[in-house]
Amino acid sequence: MPKKILLIILGCLCILYIRNTVITNRRKIAAFIENTTPSKYSSNNQEISTVSYPHRKFVPLSNHSDAFSEIAKISVKPPGIFNIDDTENLRTLGLACQPESYGYSKQQGDHVFPYHGYPKCSDLNNQTESRVYLSTEDGKIYMKCPEKFRGRLVTGPINDKKIVLRGEVEDLWEPIKYEEPLLLDEKTEFALGSCDENPNNWYKEAHMTPRFNETAYNMAKSKTKGKPKIIFMLTLDSLSRRHFFRKLPKTVDFLNSLNHENSEYWAFDFKLHNILKPNSVGNQVPIFGGIEKFVEFFEGNQNIDYLGDTALWNILREKGYISLFGLENCDNYFPRSLGRMPNFDYTVNPFFCAIYKYTDYKFDKDAVLKQRCLGPYMTHYYLLNYTDNLVRMNQGVNQWLYLHLNGGHEATGLHAETMDEDITDFLKKFLSKYSKDNEIILFLHADHGMRYGNWFKDLPAYQENKLPSLFFIARREFIDSYDKAFQILTLNTERLTSKMDLRKTLLYIADVHEDTKHGINLLKEVVPKERTCNDAGINPWDCSCTEMKIIKNPDAELKGLIERMADLLQFTINSEAYASAKHKKGNICQKIEVNEIEKVYNFQISNVEEFFKLEVSVKNHHSVKFQSSILVSSENSDRLDYDPIKYNVETDSFRGAPIKLRILTISRLDKYAGPCELKAIQAGLRGDTCICSETYTNYD
Ligand SMILES: *[C@@H]1O[C@H](CO)[C@@H](O)[C@H](O)[C@H]1NC(C)=O
Ligand SMILES: *[C@@H]1O[C@H](CO)[C@@H](O)[C@H](O)[C@H]1NC(C)=O
Ligand SMILES: *[C@@H]1O[C@H](CO)[C@@H](O)[C@H](O)[C@H]1NC(C)=O
Ligand SMILES: *[C@@H]1O[C@H](CO)[C@@H](O)[C@H](O)[C@H]1NC(C)=O
Repeated sequence: MPKKILLIILGCLCILYIRNTVITNRRKIAAFIENTTPSKYSSNNQEISTVSYPHRKFVPLSNHSDAFSEIAKISVKPPGIFNIDDTENLRTLGLACQPESYGYSKQQGDHVFPYHGYPKCSDLNNQTESRVYLSTEDGKIYMKCPEKFRGRLVTGPINDKKIVLRGEVEDLWEPIKYEEPLLLDEKTEFALGSCDENPNNWYKEAHMTPRFNETAYNMAKSKTKGKPKIIFMLTLDSLSRRHFFRKLPKTVDFLNSLNHENSEYWAFDFKLHNILKPNSVGNQVPIFGGIEKFVEFFEGNQNIDYLGDTALWNILREKGYISLFGLENCDNYFPRSLGRMPNFDYTVNPFFCAIYKYTDYKFDKDAVLKQRCLGPYMTHYYLLNYTDNLVRMNQGVNQWLYLHLNGGHEATGLHAETMDEDITDFLKKFLSKYSKDNEIILFLHADHGMRYGNWFKDLPAYQENKLPSLFFIARREFIDSYDKAFQILTLNTERLTSKMDLRKTLLYIADVHEDTKHGINLLKEVVPKERTCNDAGINPWDCSCTEMKIIKNPDAELKGLIERMADLLQFTINSEAYASAKHKKGNICQKIEVNEIEKVYNFQISNVEEFFKLEVSVKNHHSVKFQSSILVSSENSDRLDYDPIKYNVETDSFRGAPIKLRILTISRLDKYAGPCELKAIQAGLRGDTCICSETYTNYD
């Protein structure tokens, strides 16, 4: 008897083992079968085409340019004066990735984004200093209100989380009435106050200062070797390269002023820097933790450092770096992608959650034109000042600084100019103050270009979205310390680069040699002219050199397919919002119905694979517009597995061939941010696919 049972168990184990092996290796197995007996529908069999326009040709590029001879042709001299139209010079280089357009022409740009002109906050508020002050010297918080009322304030961070969702802290604050100086405890880094007797009026006073962590300092000190390095990633949200030139002319002048023979620092302008993914986290989090580790959000315990061992802050700590992660926002993305407890030494984010609650400054793209003054300064100033103080406190150790400024995150595109003067001043002072004792390496860059606003329906705007700015600034002597780095950097400024290159380069500067997936070390390797978006890990729909063709007058068969895609889109949106299992049907979100398929774009990846981009409007909601990328493939493409949000693969047929259909992305083209989005997120939904059942008129 026992023998029989044993056999059954063994048999079961055996089946399980085979099943698991097949599951884990199904791609390898499929590839093996494909190689030995190519299937009818395959990119290995160009004879048969299943895409919408079979006559288009696919020419694989495989040449490799000769880096040695290219380097030899370049002489070491200052990088020259940067100009918005420099990108035109790239057209003759023979790059495999050559965008048709780099964005609005200079004239168009000046027309769409005219100069607005913002006053100084100190003039606007008739105020030269803030009326709340944290004194670390005597451990007290002071308020100095001009009238009889002595003030009211909140302090933070309010809990031990490093970064938080707005809804998680919103109800935790209890304003305190100020009577006399308050005790400043060890953890408090900021106060937000009001001198207005009416508790319902907005707060206008703020101060923020880092609290020195001696343990972290001493740990870093024991590991810092040689002249301390400051690796500084100064990120400007939503600033395409061309928008940087348009809206930050003083900063551009400053960069240009560095580029002369006797300058200590030289700056490099990367003219073809392509996004990796559409949004902030999709572009920045892969730099922090590698592309394999990136998720838009994850389920389960949120109070963790999701990126763990691959996180820059954890890798660099071993090299003697203290870390600062500073966001000028309190959005719903970074906390969901990183967890609430990334192991940064210093962090700025809860301050901006308090600002969300107690001031009328929003950092959303729909906060149109409104200048974000807080006392005598704009909100970004507090983050810059914090950074300055932090760097001063931590002299003698390596520092990794990440700042994310949101001045450009606004729908008209005009508000970006408010950063110009402050950034220029800050950078000038920063370099002059800390250069003597530190090796400063600065990545001044954007996550992506603007992607909202009424003008976003223009094709040049789509292109600018994909082409963020990237400037690399370092000491000439530092660059010289790497073999041929000047020549290599110079060449790379005119080649396709993307986010993973930043990770690889940054780690290399910190003496960490990582074989970063899709990354090229910009100081050491010449980016080949043949590099494609695919090589750089960029999907065709995020690639500035993908030529999307608009589909007009499709034949009946194609029209049918497009309609089925729109049905699938409608079904998918409804199943994740209206009919989400997390709620009673319709409790949170309404059921939607596609009104019209307004635009369809198409891009063919191979003879058997293509994707479509659909723009649809919604019945009874005039302003709502969805955009969706949908993959159609007749072979077992890897792209069918594309993250971040996995939608089901559907089977269908097209022109007689079997196809698989999968929605890749769904996004909103209209300005949807506001109370409905918040409510949906709090209910565990995505936010942008929900049209709330309850109507909100008072959009903030
Ligand atoms: C590839 O190399 C061949 C031979 O060197 C040359 O004729 C051809 O123009 C190159 N193609 C590209 C795209 O550079
Ligand atoms: C600005 O403030 C100063 C001193 O606080 C005051 O004397 C002056 O009248 C104020 N100006 C305006 C325009 O409110
Ligand atoms: C200071 O740094 C150490 C070492 O990273 C850390 O364990 C500790 O929690 C930090 N203290 C504070 C108050 O942040
Ligand atoms: C900014 O930082 C400096 C020190 O670097 C400090 O003296 C100054 O008070 C700060 N300003 C504000 C408004 O916090």
